[in-house]
Amino acid sequence: MKLVKTIAELNEAKASFGDGKKVGLVPTMGALHEGHASLVRKSVKENDVTVVSVFVNPTQFNDKNDLKNYPRTLDADCELLESVGADIVFAPSVEEIYPEEDTRVFDFSPLDKVMEGKYRPGHFNGVAQIVSKLFDMVEPDRAYFGEKDFQQLAIIRELVAQEGYNIDIRPCPIVREKDGLALSSRNRLLSDEERVHALHISKTLFESREFAELHSVAETISFVENSINSEGYLRLEYFEIVDGYTLQPIKNWADTDYAVGCITVFCGNVRLIDNIKYKE
Ligand code: PAF
Repeated sequence: MKLVKTIAELNEAKASFGDGKKVGLVPTMGALHEGHASLVRKSVKENDVTVVSVFVNPTQFNDKNDLKNYPRTLDADCELLESVGADIVFAPSVEEIYPEEDTRVFDFSPLDKVMEGKYRPGHFNGVAQIVSKLFDMVEPDRAYFGEKDFQQLAIIRELVAQEGYNIDIRPCPIVREKDGLALSSRNRLLSDEERVHALHISKTLFESREFAELHSVAETISFVENSINSEGYLRLEYFEIVDGYTLQPIKNWADTDYAVGCITVFCGNVRLIDNIKYKE
């Protein structure tokens, strides 16, 4: 496995594999966990060369403290990536990626107007800036994204359609701890006590799937909101049940054949997201 930090080194490392190879890209912000490992394993299986980018992208953080506190663990990340068969780790500096300010403005309306887009203004524009740069630099055949960031996945698909990239976007299911907690780089910011509180999020979502079988969309939303709000420590930012393609809220289960509940909750200062499929 090669660790490269500049675009020139990336090109050299890619070229060393020879022409005509299928390239898979797994974009990450590091602090890797088993969820990332599952993306890399899938890419290794499906491609000749797997490139993993490790870059904490400043333009997608609308909160300076969040950017400052985001865990950075490159040595441990490289160990994990080596063990799952990644070929190239691209870990550039901010200057390498943004030698000058990226002023591009993307419009993914209406996908970016709801949920994360509403609560983290500018977030998806930053995601589109970095992902499009990585696509241009790595030129992958396939790119791998986790379904935990459900809205991000829809936006990336839209980015690919809008910019005409010939890249197959490969989604990978959420990976959970045995007790249900969705894996996230942010979990390592939780204290042991907070982790116990955080478990209530996935527990509520699983319970809501059973509840939803006999109740309306509005009742299911109330069920989740009440469960999170009555927990005591957690603070709900939003819970919405949306059409999985358009990301617009649904009123009735019959409105779509793909219904997904998306949630964001603060556990102390740590912002956690999760989602659950009611219909697919
Ligand atoms: O999902 C993430 O970790 C980031 O948003 C991504 C796609 C690597 C872009 O920085």
